[in-house]
Amino acid sequence: MYNKITPEGCRDLLFEEASARRGIENSLADIFERHGYREVITPLLEFTDVFSDFCGTRANHENYYRLTDCRGRLLAVRPESTAPIARLAATRLKDAALPLKLRYSQTMLRSHPKTSGRDDEIVQSGIECIGTSESGENDAEIVSLAMLALASVSGERRHILELGSGNALRILISRLNFDEDTSETVRGLVASKNVTELKKLLQNLTRGTAAGIPEIHALCLLPQLYGSVSDAPALFARLERLNIPGLADSVRPLLTLCRRVAATDCAGKVYVDFGEVNRFDYYTGVVLTGYMAGCGMPVVTGGRYDGLVRRGAETLPGMGFAVNVTAVLKSKPAPDSHKNTIKIALTKGRLEKLACELFKSRGFDVSALVDKGRRLLLPVTHPSGITVEAVLAKPPDVITYVTHGVCDLGLVGKDTILEYEDSGDFLELHDFGWGACRFALAGAAGRRDDFYGGYGVKVVATKYPEVARQFCDERGIPAELVKIEGSVELAPLLGLSDAIVDIVETGGTLSANGLAVYDDICDISARLIGNVVSFKLKSSAVSEILKILLGDKNDENIQPA
Ligand code: PRP
Repeated sequence: MYNKITPEGCRDLLFEEASARRGIENSLADIFERHGYREVITPLLEFTDVFSDFCGTRANHENYYRLTDCRGRLLAVRPESTAPIARLAATRLKDAALPLKLRYSQTMLRSHPKTSGRDDEIVQSGIECIGTSESGENDAEIVSLAMLALASVSGERRHILELGSGNALRILISRLNFDEDTSETVRGLVASKNVTELKKLLQNLTRGTAAGIPEIHALCLLPQLYGSVSDAPALFARLERLNIPGLADSVRPLLTLCRRVAATDCAGKVYVDFGEVNRFDYYTGVVLTGYMAGCGMPVVTGGRYDGLVRRGAETLPGMGFAVNVTAVLKSKPAPDSHKNTIKIALTKGRLEKLACELFKSRGFDVSALVDKGRRLLLPVTHPSGITVEAVLAKPPDVITYVTHGVCDLGLVGKDTILEYEDSGDFLELHDFGWGACRFALAGAAGRRDDFYGGYGVKVVATKYPEVARQFCDERGIPAELVKIEGSVELAPLLGLSDAIVDIVETGGTLSANGLAVYDDICDISARLIGNVVSFKLKSSAVSEILKILLGDKNDENIQPA
């Protein structure tokens, strides 16, 4: 049956699609060639060692395709092109004059959850400039080339380039001596601009003494340090004022670059984010990310890597970027008239009424939400003239719509976020505090010791297998999970499972069925999430809505009246 289909995440391109892809690749090749970049093609397979500096996040490291050759050596299908080009520069091009200006256009593979709607096979056209050191002038040249490439693929569509540096985060994490797992969690929370959760975690880690530690204060500040390139000096000053050794110096090159870019024609389209989180460990300086309307994910990614290319004892500086041609091909034409209409996905069911009350308490006319009939797109208007289009969706679908950028914002429970957070990138912008309940492990009342005793594998029924798996692994519970879609309490009652991992609100369902909580897992409440690109490209419309909904108190919980 597999002889008529392609693997998920890979597809055929026919006729117009094929020529559209070649068209984009050719126009980028023209731009790069005109700037002196010469083409190289690296092999599809590399030894995994080539990518050992590449991991960045654990997810990045785990999501590349691996296989072994006939001698049992571990190979990776190219998951990106910078590391292979660094290998090339250090070996066959070891005597070539510097700077080495190389361009490429090739496919790469990374695996994604099968129903995430994301491509595994991606075409990237990019450049690497090896041998020019970090300076405002050198970096600005790459930035202006990235702007040209971004403008060329965006056409009439709105587009922006964002400059950042992962160095601030790196310094803070190393000064706080976090272990690998904690560093990964902190990195994730900064990346998703989840200040509430970040504060909670840091308070716990430092046992309440967090307020006095400048590094902790700086970590919570990082996600808020973004703006236009002309705002860079003011944002930088806030970091400098903290007086943390090495911190300001680590991002000074970014400030220098911003000053330079602020004096050019493209200043209006370039932004800065001091809270940037490097996607790959090899970036040592400025990182670039380009966004365009109609595409729910970044279309340009790149940065400076001054430790990646090693020629003997010498390490060469380098900088580059890639355009995600596949993302451009799949992008939508984004008509201008819709550019400021914000779509928000609301969770059906238990959070629906609370969401309605929130909008009402903030002055919105929610009659379309209340009397929705069979309509699916529901206009919710504010006296200030702002109209939000709301959709009501099942909890996981809220996350799907937001990660794909077809909805700008979403209101969803933390339970769903924990279960589906790996399905794509999104920002977690606010904890409303309401809709409160908790995840718990539960089973027959009075039988907790039996559950934890003995050597046997325990059967745990749940609607949330990711949450249950993580909890059981952390506790060392040898568990077999059974996915149940609703009324999970039935599983132990019918003898299918020894316990359940489920949501407990009042505890009424458990006690009515002779069940009891064995252990609490974590608290849950309603969260506001946002699409990464909407946050950048529709920033004024998004922040206006946030201001109305959150009343200017992004860090505090708001209780709808
Ligand atoms: C949730 C959860 C429990 C119940 C807990 O189910 O799965 O069954 O609520 O609430 P309580 O502690 O107040 O009794 P939900 O009603 O959302 O439906 P489902 O079981 O079909 O998922």
